[in-house]
This record gives sequence, structure tokens and C-alpha cells, in this order.
Amino acid sequence: MPHAIDLTKPTHTRSFRRNLLTWYREHQRSLPWRKTRDPYRIWVSEIMLQQTRVAAVLEHYKRFLKKFPTVRHLAFATEAEVLAAWSGLGYYRRARMLHRAAKLVATERSGRVPQTAAELRILPGIGRYTANAIASIAFGEPVAVVDGNVERVLERLLQKKLSGEIVWRTAQALLDLTSPGDFNQAMMELGATICIPGVPLCYDCPIKKQCASRGMERKEPPIPGKRMRRSSSLLLVRRRDAILLQQRAHNERFMPGMWELPEAASEIAREPLLRVKHSITTSDWSVSVFSGPVPRLALKTHLVPLAGVSQLPITGLTRKILRKLNLLS
Ligand code: ADE
Repeated sequence: MPHAIDLTKPTHTRSFRRNLLTWYREHQRSLPWRKTRDPYRIWVSEIMLQQTRVAAVLEHYKRFLKKFPTVRHLAFATEAEVLAAWSGLGYYRRARMLHRAAKLVATERSGRVPQTAAELRILPGIGRYTANAIASIAFGEPVAVVDGNVERVLERLLQKKLSGEIVWRTAQALLDLTSPGDFNQAMMELGATICIPGVPLCYDCPIKKQCASRGMERKEPPIPGKRMRRSSSLLLVRRRDAILLQQRAHNERFMPGMWELPEAASEIAREPLLRVKHSITTSDWSVSVFSGPVPRLALKTHLVPLAGVSQLPITGLTRKILRKLNLLS
């Protein structure tokens, strides 16, 4: 391995930065949050991209920013409006924290998003990764980011396990100080498109000459986590142009306050209107939707006009079902 990178040699780190940045500028995916320096837009993208794939974020990102084009629009919206716009992205705590942080920015900072990583971190929902991502991309602050992709790239590059603070220090040592935003995004892009989990695409890698483990990755597939198969039956009650929805309790651990179809009694002999598969965190749900009359125990249910459903924070599963039944655009 004559050319594996040595982080203490400036010629090595310079060459790494140049090759990575040249590759990124030619090959980066065209994504809406890469066409702006507006810190609020970058902030929204970084929060949405946590735990969610780019493809799923794209559609929601545009819709969300149309509805809340500035941090003030977001701050003055109700929580229900924010959750409705977030519907389908999951992990709703992110949306609640973003909303809380937007209110702080609007009321205590005259709507100006903080410009340094240190100040950004004070806001709810903004940890080290998000603060550094926003500060480097929007304001050019030379602070490195580490997410799962970056950690994998660094561990393969140096062919050693890096943990905790060491990963951050390694990322910081490699960072290009003149283009930190592009460099950070290039590291994440490399991890997402070339240095992927499982078998990496080393042939196309712009920094393979400096990589200690190029082509030496173990060929075993990643071990899947243990997933649970579960099933449930839901009820679709339709009255003219309205449907029956039920609100989850505000003290529920998952998706508090959101709206969904009520549960059907378990012993329904008829064929369902629809069966859908729905995967969340560690469970794969098999859901049957039955048409039927108003259930006897219809707590916290309301007949909601179809035209008003998209204004409510509905769960991702509810959205999926209503779309499949052509009840929601
Ligand atoms: N993942 C999260 N944010 C990203 C970004 N800005 N570029 C590439 N991947 C990302």
C-alpha cells in the first residue's frame, strides 16, 4: 500500500482534498438544498435528511418550504400545520423540535438564524452534526461533520476502527478549510454513492489511490437487524365526502396528537377493501382496511371532510392508505 494516506503529511491531505472536491463538483447529485446558501433552507434539509432517504425527502422538502418559506412563517404556524406538512416523513419529534427552534429564532433573534456552529447548537434539535453542517454549508465555517456515511469512509480510508471523539478529530484533520461546506457534502456523497455499506464501488472512487482498504472490504452482506412482523385491521367509515378519523392521545410515545383511521374489531370475516404493507423502525406491518359502520367505541373520532384531511397531521400509514383509495391527492 505505498500511497495509503498519512494524515500528518500535508502533501497527502492536500491531494485527498483536491481529488475529492474535483469529483464532487463533477458528480454531485442535483439536490434543491445544494442550490441555496439560505441557512433556514439548509437547516430544514439537514433535519429532514436525518433518518430519511434523499428520495423521500425531496417531495416533502419542496412542499414544506412552499408552505413555510422563512423561519418566521414556520415560527408563526400552529403545531398541527407543521405536523401536517411533515406527514409521511416520520420521526415527528424532529418536526416539533424544528418548530420550537424556529419560534426561538423568530422571537429572540429577530428571525436571524445563528451564524456559528456554537450558537446553532443552543437551539432545540440541533446537535453537533447539524450545527456543523449548517455552519459549514451556509456560512463557510471550517467545522467537519460526521454521520454514518462519513464514519464508514474514514474507517475504510485508514483501515481502522475509529470511535467517539477520534472520528470527529480525523474528519477535522482532513477538512478542506477553504471549502468546508463542499468538502463535508463531498464526504457524505462519497459514502452515499461510492463507499456504500456492504461492497463499495472502489473502481469509481476518486480517492482510491490513498485508501488503505481499497478493494479489501469483506464481501459479507451487512447483518440485518431483527424485524418484527405484525398485523392490524383498520376501519374506513365513509359518509358522503367525509371520513372518520381518530386522534392519538397527546401523551402517546409515538406520533402523539396525530390522526389515523380507527381500529377495526379483530374478528371481521369479510374481505378487506385494501391490504397494505408498512415498515416503520423495526416492524413490518401487514394492514387490512375494512369498510364499515361507526364503531361502538369510537373515542376521539371525528368525521373529517375529505377536502380538509390534508390540513391535519395524519400518520404516514394513513396517508398511504388514503392515497391508495384515491381519497387524498
Ligand atoms: N446527508 C445529509 N445532509 C447531506 C448533504 N448536505 N449532502 C449529502 N448527504 C447528506
